Amino acid sequence: MTQAVLKNQTTELTPRNGLQAEERESVAEAVSESLADTYRLFITTQGLHWNVQGPLFYSIHKLTEEQYRDMFSAIDELAERIRALGFPAPQTVKELTEGSQVPEPDAHADLKEQIQALIEGNELIAKNLRDAVWKAEQKGDVKTADLLTHRIGVHEENAWMLRATIAS
Ligand SMILES: [Fe+2]
Repeated sequence: MTQAVLKNQTTELTPRNGLQAEERESVAEAVSESLADTYRLFITTQGLHWNVQGPLFYSIHKLTEEQYRDMFSAIDELAERIRALGFPAPQTVKELTEGSQVPEPDAHADLKEQIQALIEGNELIAKNLRDAVWKAEQKGDVKTADLLTHRIGVHEENAWMLRATIAS
C-alpha cells in the first residue's frame, strides 16, 4: 500500500547518505506503515487505560500507561526517521492512521476481549515490523532496520504482558 503522504519529496536538500532515492522512498513507506499501526494502537491502548474498571483495574491501568507512553515516544522517532530519509511525515489524523489494520477494540465488549484486541494489535505490529526490517535490510538501511527491530521486541513484550494479565 502506498501512503499518499510519501508521494512528494520535501523542498529540503536531498539526503546523501549512500541510499538511492527509490531505496529511501521504499524504506520511508515501510516506516510510515509502522507509524500508522503504532498510532492506532497508541490510541486504543490509552482508551483502555482510561476506561478499565473491575478487579484488574490497577494492573491494567498501570500496564497500559507504560505501553502508551512508550508508543507515544516511538511515534515521534518513526515520524522523524521518515523526515531524515527525506520525506514529509504524516500531518493529519487521516494520514497518520491510513492503511493500518490494527484492530479497534469494542468498547462494549468485556475486559478480556478488549485486552485480547490489544494483544492482537501488538502481535500484528510485530509481524508487520518484521517485513519492514527485511525491506530496510534489503536496501542497506541498517539504521532504520535497527529502529524497527527494537520495536519488534517492545510489541512482543507488550503482548506477553497483556496475555499474562488475563491468563487463568
Ligand atoms: Fe493516565
